Amino acid sequence: MTIGKYILTLATLSGLALLLCVGTASAQDLDRGKQLFGLCTQCHGSDGGGMPLSLAPAIAGMPDWYVLSQLNAFRAGQRGSHPGDLSGMRMMPMSRSLRTEQDVKNVAAYVAQLPATDPARLVEGDAEKGKATYSAVCVSCHQADGAGNKDLNFPPLLHTSDWYLKSQLLKYKSGIRGSDPTNTNGIVMRSMSQTLVDEQAMNDVVSYIMTLSN
Ligand code: HEC
Ligand code: HEC
Repeated sequence: MTIGKYILTLATLSGLALLLCVGTASAQDLDRGKQLFGLCTQCHGSDGGGMPLSLAPAIAGMPDWYVLSQLNAFRAGQRGSHPGDLSGMRMMPMSRSLRTEQDVKNVAAYVAQLPATDPARLVEGDAEKGKATYSAVCVSCHQADGAGNKDLNFPPLLHTSDWYLKSQLLKYKSGIRGSDPTNTNGIVMRSMSQTLVDEQAMNDVVSYIMTLSN
C-alpha cells in the first residue's frame, strides 16, 4: 500500500469512528442538547468542568448512558429526594425541567461529546493505600482503568471532581444515596461503600481514583 492510500484508509477509518461515536444523536439533537445545556452551566460551569461552590461536579465527557441514567434517577426521585441530600435536592428539580424523554437524551448526548476537563484536586489522601482498596474491592465493577462497564451499569469514575466522589461515598454509606428500594444500581453501590471503614479510607481511594484520569 502506498503512503497516500494508507493515509486515505486511516482518514476513512477515523471518519467512521467519529460517526460511530456520535451514535444515534443527529446534529439537530445536539443543537437542542446545546440549547438545553445553557441551563446546566450556572452550576456545572460553561465547560461542564464543575463548580465546587455550587456543589456541582464535572460532567463534561461522561458517557451518555450514565448521564441519562442519573438524569432519569433524579427525575424519578430515586436520587436527590432524601431529606438529608442537600446537593441532590439542588439537582433534582433541574432534571425535571427537562420536559421530554427526548430532551433528556439530547442533553446527555451533548454533555457526552464535551471535552473532558481536569478539575482542581481538593481531596488529600494516600493514593498507595487507596490503590490497595481499589484493587481489592472497586476494580471488579469500575474496572482497572476506572472506565466502568456500560452493559452492567457500572459508572466511570474518570475526569470528575474528587470532592464530589468523596461526597457520594459519604452519602452511600449513610444511606442518603442508594437507599430508595427501586434504585437497584444505588443499592449495589451502597453495600460496597460499607467496606470503606472511615473518611480516611475514602480520601485514600479517591486519591487513587484521580490518578486514573491522568
Ligand atoms: C442549581 C444547580 C444545578 C443545575 C442548574 C444543574 N445541576 Fe446537575 N448537579 C447539581 C448538583 C449540586 C449535583 C450533585 C448532586 C449530588 O451531590 O448528589 C449535580 C449532579 C449532576 C449529575 C450527576 C453526576 C454523577 O456523576 O452522577 C448529572 C449527570 C447532572 N448533574 C447533569 C446536569 C444537567 C444535564 C443539567 C442541565 C439540564 C444540570 N445538571 C443542571 C447542580 C445543578
Ligand atoms: C458490585 C459493583 C460495584 C463495586 C464493587 C463498586 N461499585 Fe461503585 N458503583 C457501582 C454502581 C452500580 C454505581 C452507580 C450507582 C447509582 O446509580 O447510584 C456506582 C457508583 C459509584 C460512585 C458514584 C459515581 C458518580 O458519578 O456519582 C462512586 C464514587 C463509586 N461507585 C466508587 C466506588 C468505590 C470507591 C468502590 C470500591 C470501594 C466501588 N465503587 C465499588 C457499582 C460498584
